[in-house]
Amino acid sequence: MRILSGIQPSGKLHIGNFFGAMRQHLQLQAEHSCFYFIADYHALTSNPRPTEVRENTIDVAIDYMALGLDTEKTVFWRQSDVSEVTELTWLLSCVTPMGLLQRCTSYKDKVAQGLSPNHGLFAYPVLQAADILIYNSDLVPVGADQKQHIEVTRDIAGRFNNTYGEVFTIPQDYIIESVAVVPGIDGQKMSKSYGNTIEIFEPRESVRKKIMKIVTDSTPVEEPKDPDKCNVFALLRLVASKDELAEWENKYRSGGMGYGEAKKRLAELIIEHFEPYRQKRADLENNIDKVKEVLANGAERAKAVAVETLTKAREAVGLGA
Ligand code: TYM
Repeated sequence: MRILSGIQPSGKLHIGNFFGAMRQHLQLQAEHSCFYFIADYHALTSNPRPTEVRENTIDVAIDYMALGLDTEKTVFWRQSDVSEVTELTWLLSCVTPMGLLQRCTSYKDKVAQGLSPNHGLFAYPVLQAADILIYNSDLVPVGADQKQHIEVTRDIAGRFNNTYGEVFTIPQDYIIESVAVVPGIDGQKMSKSYGNTIEIFEPRESVRKKIMKIVTDSTPVEEPKDPDKCNVFALLRLVASKDELAEWENKYRSGGMGYGEAKKRLAELIIEHFEPYRQKRADLENNIDKVKEVLANGAERAKAVAVETLTKAREAVGLGA
């Protein structure tokens, strides 16, 4: 089975990215043919600062590699190193109804947040469809916020195949419900643009400080609390063992526990979770050439697949000889 996913280089990766998507990416490597890329073309829709785009791209690559990407087996590259995907975007654009894109909520959300409503931002899902279709992907592991984009991809692929014959594999999303929306410290979805993230490799002291700021309700210490309505508990679910989680649930429901106690433990568990990868990350930071070499090698392997699919799509629509 071909697994594919992408992450935008929009700043430091956070634990929402990790539990919502990257952890699945890393787990799927052993048994499947995995293709993962850094979506720098997509980042241009919202970031006009070239140095940042370039630096963030390397930063995401380092995070992935530190966390256990198998660079021998898995194909890992920078999206823009395979420019065929932009040509396929055009071919797909010509079968994409305007209404389909107008219904996409992420465009509306981003414009509401103050991003410039440029055409790239509007057409973003078509480029994402091209990413998925050009590599013949079967399964796309993502968080819930990307579900609509996978549906759009399926719709576009179906329309293309109906018009021109079977060229594309129709992909499916792979979303694990329990981690589909990781909350940030304010209780909204964790997202760089909301300023509510805990970064994967954030300095330990800063992790502790942020976690102490997690928004909770004002139930007094002695009273019972509902774990299912608590942001601290939602994050504990990601990092605590089953037994420990059951203990916390019991403490919540029995009363006599303050949120501060749960927050302290949560901070330690999050720090412990990523501790084993910090040294690897530091080593990679001192060996950027190695990181660039991995991306270049990945681009070569990805390009071979992309060229083949693009050739079929060009022929199907009547371009070339
Ligand atoms: P991006 O860069 O916003 O996010 C990367 C991955 O992290 C997941 N994620 C979350 N999951 C759970 N809870 C959260 N709070 C949370 N925040 C982020 C996202 O769902 C995503 O899986 N458009 C994509 C990048 C992309 C792509 C693709 C993905 C471009 N082409 C092709 C899959 C296939 C994006 O902006 O993800």
